[in-house]
Amino acid sequence: MGSFIARITAAARSDGGDDGLGVRALKAFDAVGGAVELDAVTGPLRRVVQGLPLGPLRGVLQGRPLGHPLHPALVHLPLGAWLSAAVLDCVPGSERAARVLVATGVVAVAPTALTGWVDWAEQHEQQMRTGLLHVASIAAAAGLYGASWAARAQGRDGLGRALGFAGLAAAGSGAAVGGHLAFRQATGANKAEPVPRLVEPGWHTLGRAEEFGVGEAARRMIGEVPVLVVREAESLFHVLADRCSHASGPLSQGKVADGCVTCPWHGSVFRLSDGWNVDGPATAPQPRFATRTDAGGDLQARLPDAG
Ligand code: FES
Repeated sequence: MGSFIARITAAARSDGGDDGLGVRALKAFDAVGGAVELDAVTGPLRRVVQGLPLGPLRGVLQGRPLGHPLHPALVHLPLGAWLSAAVLDCVPGSERAARVLVATGVVAVAPTALTGWVDWAEQHEQQMRTGLLHVASIAAAAGLYGASWAARAQGRDGLGRALGFAGLAAAGSGAAVGGHLAFRQATGANKAEPVPRLVEPGWHTLGRAEEFGVGEAARRMIGEVPVLVVREAESLFHVLADRCSHASGPLSQGKVADGCVTCPWHGSVFRLSDGWNVDGPATAPQPRFATRTDAGGDLQARLPDAG
């Protein structure tokens, strides 16, 4: 553990001392993402979270009905309540309202954390390691705010305020790591979103129609964009963006069955006919291409609105 912390600290100082606090924090977060010793924790934890008997609720917690992860939306509940409590702690006579807000934040942490855990369990290694830092910060915040709530309930408002401000610092650190996860490591972002801007308008030839076997998945390129080609029946072809919207897994290496393809990385299921994500963890569908076979027997594809 000592060498682990020393390595993270050294990474933060790797500039020779010229970088500001923000860049140092960024380098420390990156170093946590590369700390393979954390895998001894993430592996068993991941299995526990994946084994939770959540049934269809798992997709709801992941945000599939919303079309994007639910966790960032719920985060506003505890953070908003705690930040508001901190403001009221600076206003004389607001003790009762501040106590209610602290309690609201503590209660809201549980469902918010659950949405984060189900997302976390389907991420790649670097994201899961960094996610542990996020969890540790928020757990510290929740503990401090729980103690703050208890102190306020006993009439010890001065101690409650002090614990609350310490909790807010921990929550802020957790939010900073969360921002790193979302924007630096692109956790939860739709990885297929750029496809319409990367594919040139018009029809693109993918090969001779006869070279695609019925029921088989094949990978072809349209410019720089890999696509999945499935010949479902003699004259019925489906073409989807190959990189999974969840985390860029190669759908062409997935299983094709019942009109769907299952991503080999985390098991998201996409309907071949329209690219819809019928099962998670993906929260966004796959871009689907229109297809035709030209007079010469070549299979061609284009994005539906691309002329
Ligand atoms: S990459 Fe995660 S389900 Fe496809």
